[in-house]
Amino acid sequence: MSIMKNKKIILGVCGGIAAYKSVGLLRLLMKQDAQVQVVMTQASTEFINPLTFQALSGRAVRTTLFDPDAEAAMGHIELARWADMIIIAPATANTIAKITHGFADNLLTTLCLASQARLLIAPAMNEKMWRNEAVQNNINSLSTRDNVFICGPEEGEQACGDIGAGRMTEPDDLLTYCMMQLSCEKNSASLSGQKVLITAGPTIEDIDPVRYLSNRSSGKMGYAIAQAAQEQGADVLLVSGVVALKVPKGIKVITVRSAKQMYDAVFQHIADIDIFIATAAVADYRPIDIIASKIKKTADKMTIECVKNPDILAAVGALEDKPIMIGFAAETHDIKKYALDKLDRKNLDMIVANEVGEQKGFEVDTNELHLFWRAFTHHHVNEEQKKYYKKLAYASKTQLAQQLINEITRTLVNDE
Ligand code: C5P
Repeated sequence: MSIMKNKKIILGVCGGIAAYKSVGLLRLLMKQDAQVQVVMTQASTEFINPLTFQALSGRAVRTTLFDPDAEAAMGHIELARWADMIIIAPATANTIAKITHGFADNLLTTLCLASQARLLIAPAMNEKMWRNEAVQNNINSLSTRDNVFICGPEEGEQACGDIGAGRMTEPDDLLTYCMMQLSCEKNSASLSGQKVLITAGPTIEDIDPVRYLSNRSSGKMGYAIAQAAQEQGADVLLVSGVVALKVPKGIKVITVRSAKQMYDAVFQHIADIDIFIATAAVADYRPIDIIASKIKKTADKMTIECVKNPDILAAVGALEDKPIMIGFAAETHDIKKYALDKLDRKNLDMIVANEVGEQKGFEVDTNELHLFWRAFTHHHVNEEQKKYYKKLAYASKTQLAQQLINEITRTLVNDE
């Protein structure tokens, strides 16, 4: 379950061109099952029609302090108390100044004064405005407050054509940040203090300077798990093959190319690791030799002789002082049989099996997972298999990653 589920969020929108991005943020929050009340400043309604936010949030947008109907339904003090978090995205220089100095001249600034919830501010403005001493002084003053968090702005090209700091942080990064903040006040099933190493993505085994052997792994499942573990407070190290994914903020990543490099990176850090999750699609074989120059097409047939790569997961499983270990099994058939075999052979605590097929497994954003544990005496044991089993139904990889991390935390870390 997402940490955002049923969280009560006030999304404050100020009058800047980046207001269009907060529509994207609202959609992400709704997808996480958060309850979102949008509060717009008067100026922001010049950029986006409140109806857009109303349609997406399922709640009437609030724009003024003096709306008798809205106040009768939920007064502004009640609304301030209701919120678990206030996000202001985009936050203009004007609203930042008002919040810094305690103004309460519109609904949004009044709510900020009246609420004890965390306040996440995502500034967005022209880069010269951002660099202005007055704005910087306000930001510096705000960032010393306990419950205020400033996220961004990012560097880049601006709507006005200038280049520099002032772009609003992207909605997906803001969502990650919110989740991280909320996870700090999280439940008992936390991974805080746990060091988690995750392998992800494909490996690349070079044949010659221009060709290689690899596979279709996108790394999406591994990256989603890394993010979910971090949201639960874990200290995450990602050892990743070459992928086209953005590393979630706050996660350390070591990028490797081949299985051997992945093995070396894992073994450099494994002694400190509490939980090892191997999602990487490691090539089973590599060419015996990497040919130094490009192979020419002279012969009608060619053979590439290969040797077996080290099995990273099995090697970690053979350590005397091994971490909690979770392996993956991507199969096209006989999922259960192969998964249970790997659970034993690689000395794992849990195996996560999935079928590679349409909208499942490689490259896609969705999946369905089958989890098998070793048979703990205090678990319900399936006599036939002597294993504990649970299916995580078809969902986005992000949601599955959160569910999987919850299962790992609950059964392997807290040993419930
Ligand atoms: O044996 P198989 O490759 O199917 O096992 C899959 C599991 O083992 C995955 O968790 C994968 O990340 C891990 N693995 C590994 N090193 C290898 C091969 C697989 O860590 N060389």
